Amino acid sequence: MRSLIDILELSTEEIGELIAVADDIRQNPAKYREACRGKKLATLFFEPSTRTRLSFEAAMYELGGNVLGFSEAQSSSASKGESVSDTVKVVSLYADIIAMRHPKEGAPLVASMKASVPVINAGDGGHNHPTQTLADLDTIWNEKGRLDNLTIGLCGDLKFGRTVHSLIAAMSRYENVKFILISPEELKLPSYVKRDILVKKGIPYEQTTDLEAAMPQLDILYMTRVQRERFFNEDDYVRLKDSYILTPAKLKNARQDLCIMHPLPRVNEISVAIDDDPRACYFKQALYGKYMRMALILKLLGVEV
Ligand code: CP
Repeated sequence: MRSLIDILELSTEEIGELIAVADDIRQNPAKYREACRGKKLATLFFEPSTRTRLSFEAAMYELGGNVLGFSEAQSSSASKGESVSDTVKVVSLYADIIAMRHPKEGAPLVASMKASVPVINAGDGGHNHPTQTLADLDTIWNEKGRLDNLTIGLCGDLKFGRTVHSLIAAMSRYENVKFILISPEELKLPSYVKRDILVKKGIPYEQTTDLEAAMPQLDILYMTRVQRERFFNEDDYVRLKDSYILTPAKLKNARQDLCIMHPLPRVNEISVAIDDDPRACYFKQALYGKYMRMALILKLLGVEV
C-alpha cells in the first residue's frame, strides 16, 4: 500500500506516467467512467479548500466511485479532541483512500502511518502540497511541451507557500532548470529549502525583490498569494499583502510565450485584466489538477484501465 505525502516520493518516470494517464483521461473520459466503481474516497479537510477538495471529489465521481468526508474540523470529532491518528484509523474502515488537508505540518504523514488505506497529502500547513505540484507539472508539460530547460520565476510568499516548496523540489530533478525567487525580504524562501534542494543539487537561482526586472528572462511566472492565515501578526500581513500585483503594464517586457501560473485562490496579486491574456494559465491549471488527481487515485488504488 502506498500513500503520497511528498512529491519526491514519486520518481520522474512515475510523474511522466501520471501525466500520460491524465492526458488519456482528458481525451477518453468514457474509458475511465467505471474504473473506481464500488470504491470510496474520504476527503478529510481540517482547513478550507475549494479546488483541492472539489477536484478530488469530481475526480472520484468521474471514475465511477463515491465520496464521503468533511470540509472543516468543526464538523468532525476533531472538535471534541479526537486525534488525527484515531480519525484515520476509523475512516480507513469506511473508505478505500483518504485525501487529507491539515494546518499542522506533518499531520498527513502521521495519518499515513496509522491508516490502513492510502493517504494523500492535500496540503499540510506551510510545508507541502504534492497534488498541486502534480497539477503544476501537468500544466507546464501541456503549455510549454517540456519539463526541462526552463527559467521559472516564483513570486510572492515564498516563505509559507507550500505549493512553491513542492514545485521547487519537483522541478529540481529536471535538466537545466533555473529559479528566480521574487519576494519581499520577510517572505524569502526558507533556508532549509535553499540548502537541501537548490544548493545541494547545484541548481542555479537568483533572489530579487524586483518582478519587472526579472520578467524578460522568464518562461514561467508562478504567482502566489500572501497568505493571511499563516501570519502571527495582522500588521505584518497588511504591510506585505500588496507587495506584488501583476498588471498588464508589468507584462510589457514579458515573453510572448510566457506561462502565467497561480495555484489559486488569488486575492489581488493578479489583476483580472490579465485573465483574458493567452498567457494566463491559472484556470487551466485548476482543470489539469482534476485529471492528475484522477490519475493518482488510479495509481494508489492499483486500478488498471
Ligand atoms: N490551490 C489550492 O490548494 O486551492 P484550494 O485551497 O482552494 O484547495
